This record gives sequence, C-alpha cells and structure tokens, in this order.
Amino acid sequence: MACRFPVRQPGINIDMKATATVAATLTYRSFAKINLYLQVLDRRPDGYHNIETLFQTIDLSDELSFTASPEEITLECASADLGPLENNLVYRAAKLLKERFQYQGGAHITLDKHIPVASGLAGGSGNAATTLQALNTLWELNLTQQDILDCAIELGSDVPYCAIGGTVAATGRGEILQPLAHIRERWFLLLHPDIQVSTPRVYNHPQLSRSNEDRIDGRTTSFTMAIGTLNKGALADVFYNAMEIAVFSEYPQLAVMKQRLLDGGCAASLMSGSGPTLFGLCKNREHAEELARNFPEVKTSVVASVPYGVLQVD
Ligand code: C5P
Repeated sequence: MACRFPVRQPGINIDMKATATVAATLTYRSFAKINLYLQVLDRRPDGYHNIETLFQTIDLSDELSFTASPEEITLECASADLGPLENNLVYRAAKLLKERFQYQGGAHITLDKHIPVASGLAGGSGNAATTLQALNTLWELNLTQQDILDCAIELGSDVPYCAIGGTVAATGRGEILQPLAHIRERWFLLLHPDIQVSTPRVYNHPQLSRSNEDRIDGRTTSFTMAIGTLNKGALADVFYNAMEIAVFSEYPQLAVMKQRLLDGGCAASLMSGSGPTLFGLCKNREHAEELARNFPEVKTSVVASVPYGVLQVD
C-alpha cells in the first residue's frame, strides 16, 4: 500500500519474534518533475532569483530504501556515480534531520537511480524530499509537514515541491507553493540529451531574459493567466520556459529536437527547468511510444503525469 504526504504512521517491517537488533526497512519511490511553465523574475539579495513556475510530477521514479542502523548514515547506489557523499542530497537530508532533531541512531540508505542525474527533472531534490519523509517515519520523529518543508528549502529550491508533488504553482525561490487541481492523466515523451547544463550558469547567462512585470498579491498577471489556462485544461497553451533561449544558444541541437517533437504531432514541447531534458505533450501513450522511435540517438522516456511526488512502497 502506498501513501503520500503527509506521511501516515509507519508500516515498519519488524519481525516481532526477533530481537531489537533486527532492522526495519522502508521502501519509497521518488518521482521526477517537469516544469510546464517557468518564468524568471528579479535577482534577490540572497543571490537566488524569484521565479514563477508550474510543476508537475511524472511517472519516472527512483527507488530508495531505509534501514535503521546504530548511529552512522550510509548511502549505497549501484546504478549511478553520485560523486562525493557529503554533496549528495540524500546524505545531506539525512544528516540535517539527525543533527537538527538530535536523533542518536542512523540509517543505511540504498538508492536505485532511474531519473537521469542533473537533467532538469529534480531527481536529486525528489530523493532529498523522500529521505526527509522516510526518516521522519523510520526514526519516529513525529515532525509536522511544516518542519519537513523548513528542512526541504535548506536543501534546495525544488525540494519543498518534491515533498508534495502533483500539479503546483510555485513562486519565491520555488518554495511558496499553491497546490492546484490535478491535471487529468496526460502522456509525455521525454528526451534526455547527453549534455551537462549548470543551473547557476543558466541563471547568470547573458541571454537569460528576466521578466520585470509587476506583481499583484505576489504574482504577475501573466502567471495568473497561465494558472487559469491550466485550470481550464488547455495544457498545451501553458507551455513556456524563459530559460530555453539561453540554453539553446549554447546547445542549438536542443532547439532542433524541440521542433522535431512538434513535427511528430506533439501539441506542445518544452525544455524542463534548466535542461537539458525536453518533453513533448503527446496524444496518448501509443503516440508517445511511436514518436520515441524517431529519436534513436537519444535516451527517451514515455511517462504519464502522476498526482504525487513521494510514495511509500509496502
Ligand atoms: O536551490 P538550488 O540548490 O537548486 O539552486 C542551485 C542554484 O541555482 C543556486 O545556487 C542559484 O545559483 C540558482 N537558483 C537561482 N534562483 C532560484 C533557484 C536556483 O538563482 N530560484
């Protein structure tokens, strides 16, 4: 059985006949997101930018399992090279909880990656959000949703959204969240070009146009209209990403692929976040699968929208 945020009480798997040293293991899926709309506003005194974005979770997920251990936090990932442990968002999330809430024990965490790393899909952010929720349950910390969201924003701008998932309008750094009605299930073809894009570099790119439109009650009229369009179900009319011009100026092949998605019958296509992942809105699953055959040179994923960001797998 699965649950979504806020986490219900643990379905911890304890063998009652065994001694207290037997480990409890919780398993979770952590879902990728796409940005259906992304506008960059002003640079803030803290160095971040105010943004306006529409987030959507999709059925492309990593699997994480959490086992109680005496005091250390250890992380094992056989499916990808995650670099130094201290930089890893899963490790940082676990360490943040342990230190902030003075938890004496530890956890062994395994991560099975399916979401491409650093691809504009917030895979690492979702893993961090999952870790906060899972360890809250495993360690019986009894944290509120607000406690988790407060930790989440310290780990990254997308982490609070990932803890909630679904269809959400976000402002501020991306952490001021307004959940919207879930969109009906839609199918997307994702293209994962083998390119590394640095998010801070995109935010500082000379060709990144920042909107200076006035905000009324914390929102521009353009964003209010985009939300209205989404609520009407006109998903294709919402698609916008202010970062495309900057990223496409460095990687013109992405603009070509975006056009090929449209030529293949997608109602709209877009880059997700700071890229490089591109996605096309397809008519249905069959259309997405058929269109994927037009892109033999690049890794692809056929995915549906999902209304959650984190699922506990019992
Ligand atoms: O918050 P996160 O660690 O994901 O951000 C990575 C980098 O992207 C930041 O250091 C900052 O340079 C940039 N950023 C930004 N404004 C945002 C989100 C990220 O300038 N709203």
